[in-house]
Amino acid sequence: MAKKWFETVAIAQERAHKRLPRSVYGALVAGSEKGLSSRDNLAAFDELGFAPHIADLPAQRSMATSVMGQEIAMPVLISPTGVQAVHPDGELAVARAAANRGLAMGLSSFASRSVEEVAAANDKVFFQLYWSGGRDVMVRRMERAKAAGAKGIIVTLDWSFSNGRDWGSPWIPEKIGFKEAMILAPQTLLRPRWLWSFARKAHFPDLSAPNMAEPGTKAPTFFGAYYEWMQSTPPTWEELTWLRAQWDGPFMVKGVSRIDDAKRVVQAGATALSVSNHGGNNLDGTPSPLRALPAVADAVGSEIEVLLDGGVRRGSDVVKALALGAKAVMIGRAYLWGLAANGQAGVENVLDVLHGGIDSTLLGLGRASIHELSRDDVVAPEGFFRILGG
Ligand SMILES: Cc1cc2nc3c(=O)[nH]c(=O)nc-3n(C[C@H](O)[C@H](O)[C@H](O)COP(=O)(O)O)c2cc1C
Repeated sequence: MAKKWFETVAIAQERAHKRLPRSVYGALVAGSEKGLSSRDNLAAFDELGFAPHIADLPAQRSMATSVMGQEIAMPVLISPTGVQAVHPDGELAVARAAANRGLAMGLSSFASRSVEEVAAANDKVFFQLYWSGGRDVMVRRMERAKAAGAKGIIVTLDWSFSNGRDWGSPWIPEKIGFKEAMILAPQTLLRPRWLWSFARKAHFPDLSAPNMAEPGTKAPTFFGAYYEWMQSTPPTWEELTWLRAQWDGPFMVKGVSRIDDAKRVVQAGATALSVSNHGGNNLDGTPSPLRALPAVADAVGSEIEVLLDGGVRRGSDVVKALALGAKAVMIGRAYLWGLAANGQAGVENVLDVLHGGIDSTLLGLGRASIHELSRDDVVAPEGFFRILGG
């Protein structure tokens, strides 16, 4: 067990790289076009420094908070991702890990596990929707999530269906049966531990999207669901307001970069927004959310909960985002690396790494609580910030 423990997310990523077949690892690294945004998401955290204290440091630090009405043990949420093929327990392992650490989870509508299974494993689940399939279909998806016990909705609006990457996209089959397994064999046979983890459960990785199924029908394939989404006309602000009115509870809009959009999200009646560029998987060239965050937080932070996601790999990254005005952050790849490296225990390991990092950063900054953090705690180089749509 000790051998499987890792002390940083970077080590978890290295293990995921060794363990996962090339195409699965490539799908997680992702990024779009030239990878400008995915690189900037990481670079921005590196450019920001700290202004530490050396005495009067607090003996104990607290980091509990609440987001969308849920009490959470630290200001970190699981961002929704479809984790098909990373680990046989998929989102279920992630849900259990988050529940064991007192944390909430966003569940993707493209997830490989059903909202019923996941909400039974974690009572703080927010179901994530795309604008896909028409009004009635979306209402049915939300009703299903509510019946399963989801506590909130996350609507993700930043997606531009870009489909080229300068380093090439991995081949992902429609489904994995014997034939596809043989085509993938050259890379999967080089990853025997990954193969064995699925073989033990006697199934191939599930590439379907059960939460996109209509009542009484079979789960569509991942690509079938993606096609439905591609064919859907993107929503207007009025339609977003309509969607919000269909959900009686907390409602987050994910993918905001601009101040004017943030104000429209407030007008639509949302409870929360996440400043995000979809982990750099969307419109390449969108700046890191960390650079755009302060302007958005200044504009709407008193009216709505402002979160950030994109590029968080350390506890100190979480503290930087909070110092710049986020109430909490969401993580994507960080927990995916943990899941790939060591299943549920690997996700718990990542969450513990972040917890320890937040605690030691608060100590260094002389802050007894995350609620005391302010912009004075960080140093930003000239020209660091971006004000979009101001
Ligand atoms: C493999 C992968 C799949 C994703 N799937 C979804 C999704 O289904 N829905 C969604 O809202 N965001 C999705 N995202 C974006 C994440 O929720 C989040 O915005 C992003 O991963 C944050 O950046 P980070 O990975 O640097 O933490 C996905 C991201 C990755 C890497």
